[in-house]
Amino acid sequence: MGWLEGEVALITGGGSGIGRAVALRYLAEGASVAVLGRGAEQLEEVVAAAGDRSDRVLPLTGDVRSPDDLHRAVDATVERFGKLDILVPNAGIWDYHRSVTKLDGKELSEAFDEVFGINVKGYVLAVEAAWRELVATRGSIVMTLSNASFHTDGGGPLYTASKHACLGLLRQFAYELAPRVRVNGVAVGGMRTKLRGPQSLGLQDRTLEASFAKNEASGQAQQPLIPLYDSSVEPEDFTGPYVLLASRANSGTVTGAVIPADGGIAVRGFRSPAGGAGL
Ligand SMILES: NC(=O)c1ccc[n+]([C@@H]2O[C@H](COP(=O)([O-])OP(=O)(O)OC[C@H]3O[C@@H](n4cnc5c(N)ncnc54)[C@H](O)[C@@H]3O)[C@@H](O)[C@H]2O)c1
Repeated sequence: MGWLEGEVALITGGGSGIGRAVALRYLAEGASVAVLGRGAEQLEEVVAAAGDRSDRVLPLTGDVRSPDDLHRAVDATVERFGKLDILVPNAGIWDYHRSVTKLDGKELSEAFDEVFGINVKGYVLAVEAAWRELVATRGSIVMTLSNASFHTDGGGPLYTASKHACLGLLRQFAYELAPRVRVNGVAVGGMRTKLRGPQSLGLQDRTLEASFAKNEASGQAQQPLIPLYDSSVEPEDFTGPYVLLASRANSGTVTGAVIPADGGIAVRGFRSPAGGAGL
């Protein structure tokens, strides 16, 4: 028996990265999963990756900035699987560390609308579309948050503000939807994904995995920037907390909580950020 046997989940941005990894992990835990994303090809690849569990995957194209697309996604999920137990608001973009000192007002204005449109409005609209079904099942929401929900330098001001905003949404939704729906989050740290940048800044084709490759080639990735600097950066290794928080049996009393899965950024200290391999 898996931890999510018989549960039904909807994951935004489920076609790649951590969304895809959570989808495959939830399937392995016994859930059925709808994955919403912009690219049909990516979503079909998730169905193929599910192998003999592919009958429990529903690919759905849509844009998280569209309330209609999100309502269609919730309706299609319920039509196919009969209910909705778990919502994972996850689709997002990064700002590639663009500082306020490097952008002019027009660029900031356009990029703000794009980053907040996807990262923040996308979460609000997903919850609006899903809450009635989640109330019906006494389900839960597990949001993807970020180290940038708590700390500086996980991006530039736009990304950092958008991820802080998601923490505010998590807390407010946990309040508004209690006692029927639990609302929690996983604050993931750096993962090797294809996380992209805003089109308005011409960064839509940049991927985080390319930045990882560049850092690794230059040896920068070996520096102990965070306490668990030698831990994995593959999205598959960040999925455990998503299972734990969605599990009724194991997290039935937990709401408004965030599990940081970021290698320990909050315990870096003031001297060497990690004990090092010599310990
Ligand atoms: N990769 C990291 O290091 C990292 C760190 C902290 C937080 N995160 C967060 O993790 C989440 C997932 O990102 P990822 O790293 O897996 O990257 P990713 O690019 O692989 O996943 C994001 C997914 O969202 C989809 N998406 C983007 N805009 C969309 C829209 N308007 N409508 C529908 N789908 C859309 C993309 O197509 C993609 O499939 C994001 O919220 C990101 O901010 C990532």
